[in-house]
Amino acid sequence: MADDKPTGNMLWGGRFTGGLDPLMVQYNESIYFDKVLYKQDILGSIAFARANAKSGIISQHEFTKLEEGLLLVKQEWEAGVFKIVPGVDEDIHTANERRLGEMIGKDIAGKLHTGRSRNEQIATDMRMWLRDELRTIQQHLRDFLGVIAARAEKEIDVVMPGYTHLQRAQPIRWSHWMLSYGFAFASDLDRLGEVIRRVNRSALGCGALAGNPFGIDREMMSEELGFEGLLWNSMGGVADRDFVAETLQWGSMLMQHISRWAEDLIIYSTAEFGFVRLADAYSTGSSLMPQKKNPDSLELLRGKSGRAFGHVAGFMMTQKGLPSTYNKDLQESVEPMLDHVKTVSDSIQIANGVLATLAIQPAKMEASLDPFMLATDLADYLVRKGVPFRETHHISGRCVALSEQTGTPMNELTYEQLKGVDARFDKDISDVFNYEKSVEMRSAKGGTSKSSVLEQIKVLRAMISA
Ligand code: ARG
Repeated sequence: MADDKPTGNMLWGGRFTGGLDPLMVQYNESIYFDKVLYKQDILGSIAFARANAKSGIISQHEFTKLEEGLLLVKQEWEAGVFKIVPGVDEDIHTANERRLGEMIGKDIAGKLHTGRSRNEQIATDMRMWLRDELRTIQQHLRDFLGVIAARAEKEIDVVMPGYTHLQRAQPIRWSHWMLSYGFAFASDLDRLGEVIRRVNRSALGCGALAGNPFGIDREMMSEELGFEGLLWNSMGGVADRDFVAETLQWGSMLMQHISRWAEDLIIYSTAEFGFVRLADAYSTGSSLMPQKKNPDSLELLRGKSGRAFGHVAGFMMTQKGLPSTYNKDLQESVEPMLDHVKTVSDSIQIANGVLATLAIQPAKMEASLDPFMLATDLADYLVRKGVPFRETHHISGRCVALSEQTGTPMNELTYEQLKGVDARFDKDISDVFNYEKSVEMRSAKGGTSKSSVLEQIKVLRAMISA
């Protein structure tokens, strides 16, 4: 229950007489996670003080002192010597201001917050931090896409089974499989650019909700802090966490792509498939079964996608139904953002490492190709002779049945046997039973032929550098 701890210590303590419940102190404080925003908070404060000096509400001398002090506080954080005062430093904003007062004296430090609210401050800090992190993620994503393009080019001759319903369907190039995900990740990259543009807007000067009473130059602060523009309504500016929600949605989509990609590779790495072998650096053994080599990296990628989506679901629920402008519920946007960014950033780098180091087993891929996967090509053969596809589909189906009944692989059925199914088969029908030819036949844009795949690599590379 409430103890006699004075709340007069708190920066907002003026009107409070009673003490805070000790659990409430902990429940309320965000310093232990929002301290990662120390740099953004300090740079934002310097920009704010500079703008206040420009408008004349503080003097140039006071600004100089504030800036000097704030840079000293920043140095303490950087050197790892900043001492958080438990129960007093509620969040990063109050902690920095408390320390500033100790360093330059309360008379001047007390002027830093002139016309400012923590509501605009937290929004500003989060947006700056997130913008920088997302730019780093953008680079990780470009690197990953670069590896996909390079491997697709190098291993273009490798042919493997392509699946629908996880059943053997048609032959494809291994590169084609890699590029299928490559384009999904390239869309993620494209979307990320859009997200960053909306994240990178300045809330500074919005005040608690109603704006700034001292004619502060918002554009000047925005430029100093590297924002691309302002949030144009002060109430909206302090209320808005859409930039967090959008990031979480973006990251969840990306993680969903990574998860499906990982699932394919987990299947391909089983002994039953044996198409790929993971590098030791991305696998682990079993504590019990000496023979095991487990694809933990891929399983974690798949598993963490659930966690990423959990952030979105949780935070959307937090935001739903909030009355306008700032409510403390919004503090709940910080932790999901931090965890999401780390999860997504690490995941892209792990996926990149897995792909860059895994070994493929082309012989295994080839051995899994099955003549039945050419049944469509058999039908297409007759289509080229003018037979309607619906009819050729049937004829090819009868060849499949004959092959099954006689226990003869379809490519070993004799010319006479095939002729018996349909008189329009000619001697050159044997050419159809060639996997390489099958992938080469699909030369329309986006298909499996070498020229189509090379074109895809070119398009992908253009998307990476766009
Ligand atoms: N720690 C708070 C947050 O993360 C900062 C804003 C506090 N504003 C307030 N009016 N209590 O949202």
